[in-house]
Amino acid sequence: MNATLETIQRRYACRSFQSTPVPDDLLGAVVEAGLHAPSAVNRQPWRLVVISDKSVIDELDAAGVARLSQFDPAGYQRILDRGGRLLYNCPALVLVLTERMESFVKTELDAGIVVSHLLLAATAVGLSSCPCALIGAALTGPEGEVWKRRLEAPDGFDFALAILLGYATGPGQAPHAVDWSKVSKLTA
Ligand SMILES: Cc1cc2nc3c(=O)[nH]c(=O)nc-3n(C[C@H](O)[C@H](O)[C@H](O)COP(=O)(O)O)c2cc1C
Repeated sequence: MNATLETIQRRYACRSFQSTPVPDDLLGAVVEAGLHAPSAVNRQPWRLVVISDKSVIDELDAAGVARLSQFDPAGYQRILDRGGRLLYNCPALVLVLTERMESFVKTELDAGIVVSHLLLAATAVGLSSCPCALIGAALTGPEGEVWKRRLEAPDGFDFALAILLGYATGPGQAPHAVDWSKVSKLTA
């Protein structure tokens, strides 16, 4: 099978990472793949914040869990059932931020393509990954502004998604089954 299609079929959301660090060259290759993403009018309305300091990741995780417990009891319970960590012990992550702007083209669409590039590039180089929206609990609201400053996120950009990266513990998961009922086809 074509290597790109095979990579697409192999990707899955990993929720248990080894503590083994991600080599810098692989992290760089994944991030560069994100920067290749197309965007409306080539505006590239995103910033990527790469974090591979495990102590910062753990602190961010704890802040997110604490905030979730206050504001989203159902989400908090789901995370407790999964082991109590939002970031699943990942050794590295990329925060995808989107630029706040008035436009009929949603910047989230551009950011979504970046995310897809990051996830597939990670799979292609042998890393596991997980998109993580729930860490937004730590990165929004007044306390979120403190975190964004600490992480040197530029003004005018909002948190969109975190991409967790690393090596899976165990064999990993089967990718989700494709659902062809989502597709309809008009024929002449
Ligand atoms: C925008 C977005 C946000 C997500 N946020 C989370 C999250 O906060 N925590 C989590 O464990 N998984 C999260 N996921 C992963 C999804 O749950 C996962 O992609 C979905 O269940 C399909 O499984 P698969 O990725 O293994 O195919 C998110 C996925 C997307 C696309």
